[in-house]
Amino acid sequence: MTFTSSFALRYARLAGRGAYVYKAPRGTTDILPAEQGYYRHVEATAARLCQRYGYERIDTPVFEDARLFVRTIGEGTDIVEKETYTFDDRSGQAMTLRPEGTAPICRAYVEHGMHNLPQPVRLFYLASIFRYERPQKGRYRQHQQFGAEAIGDGDPALDAEVIDLAWRFCAAVGLTGIAIQLNSIGCKVCRPAYLAELQKHYSAHVDVLCPDCRVRLQKNPLRLLDCKKPSCQDIAESAPRSSEHLCPECGGHFDGVREYLRVLGIAFEENHRLVRGLDYYTKTVFEIQPRGREGAQSAVGGGGRYDDLIQELGGKPTPAVGFAIGIERVVLGVKQQGMAPLASPGEKVFVASLGDEAKAEAVRLTAELRRAGVIAIPSLGNRSLKAQLRQANALGAAHALIMGDDEVRAGRVVLRHMDRGEQESVPVQDVVGMLRSPDVRFEQ
Ligand code: HAM
Repeated sequence: MTFTSSFALRYARLAGRGAYVYKAPRGTTDILPAEQGYYRHVEATAARLCQRYGYERIDTPVFEDARLFVRTIGEGTDIVEKETYTFDDRSGQAMTLRPEGTAPICRAYVEHGMHNLPQPVRLFYLASIFRYERPQKGRYRQHQQFGAEAIGDGDPALDAEVIDLAWRFCAAVGLTGIAIQLNSIGCKVCRPAYLAELQKHYSAHVDVLCPDCRVRLQKNPLRLLDCKKPSCQDIAESAPRSSEHLCPECGGHFDGVREYLRVLGIAFEENHRLVRGLDYYTKTVFEIQPRGREGAQSAVGGGGRYDDLIQELGGKPTPAVGFAIGIERVVLGVKQQGMAPLASPGEKVFVASLGDEAKAEAVRLTAELRRAGVIAIPSLGNRSLKAQLRQANALGAAHALIMGDDEVRAGRVVLRHMDRGEQESVPVQDVVGMLRSPDVRFEQ
């Protein structure tokens, strides 16, 4: 059967319309090799720290059943209403590209019966996240997050642990000029009464509210506190504070979090307007923000407790807490501080050859060097020796190996030290041992 969907036809026609200059989609970026050092540094730091804190890596699919996110992030949130990449797959099922990492991990926790493991289950992830936002510096339509989730314990010491992990990570990658903002937004017991108070306060000022806040007042009153419009600032500042309307359970929990943070020596600022953009939070919420730009949607990371989420997804009542940090924002920050990317992982060897026999030997020797853990780049084509050495220089090679057909017959190769320009003739069977990296992990 031949099947061509109208979708395929439309794009086949578009593609056939001659030369078109393709660009990365708006709000996305290519991470070119020169940038990779920053990203590898950030990711390696995350993995190393998580190991120390007992968090194990989890990877979930890039797309999920669309209902998962509507259910968990919340119908009235910007993410679900305006920012998801949702599409019908070829069987007509609505799928959404992951707009955050917590809901998929809770789905995996329930699906794989992780409540049978010792609790809490500590997990971390490095994942691509997709949100159809208005792109600007530090805000993209595809970004990467480092996140951690501790699922299965309601102890406030666990909130302090994840905040500590997020904070130490920022310190370990070298990010400075940041501060922790902390708040508690209560639970389903105390929040309804607080929201009623909030609505009462805002209703008295409805005539000066921005149009968005008038909608929030009805649909999602907690988000009123988050408004950045100047006209709404005074009303938000004088609004009732959630931390002053907590039930005894939430109040005690918040005291516990603050106490454990003090024990850990972690400074924080209480911010009664911090509410977060996802609906699943209960009790603790926090963000790590650049100093002086608090509330400017420039958070490096954020998170909090979400004690009802696992149950919402069909699991047993299971308290949990976690955070996510935007990797691009961390990289932007460390770059602004003038940090250099990680150096290349080792010295390169360029393998030059003149003549057909020598070229075959160069191909063989390059493979042998690579198996021994040496970064080896062979010359291609039939260029002059001068051109080949120019390429070795351009690649930053520390050494070049040069062979002509005569060398091959004699079982020798010329080893050139690129920095000094000196060279020596060495037996070919010795050269791998001479250049072998002391740190060979994938030896065959
Ligand atoms: P979030 O605050 O929506 O939280 O995202 C976490 C971090 O991802 C932000 O602080 C920011 O650094 C980065 N980020 C968010 N959107 C963008 C964007 N469009 N471009 C670049 N970076 C961005 C969450 O996603 C929750 N799942 C965190 C969490 C984990 N809560 C509990 N566990």
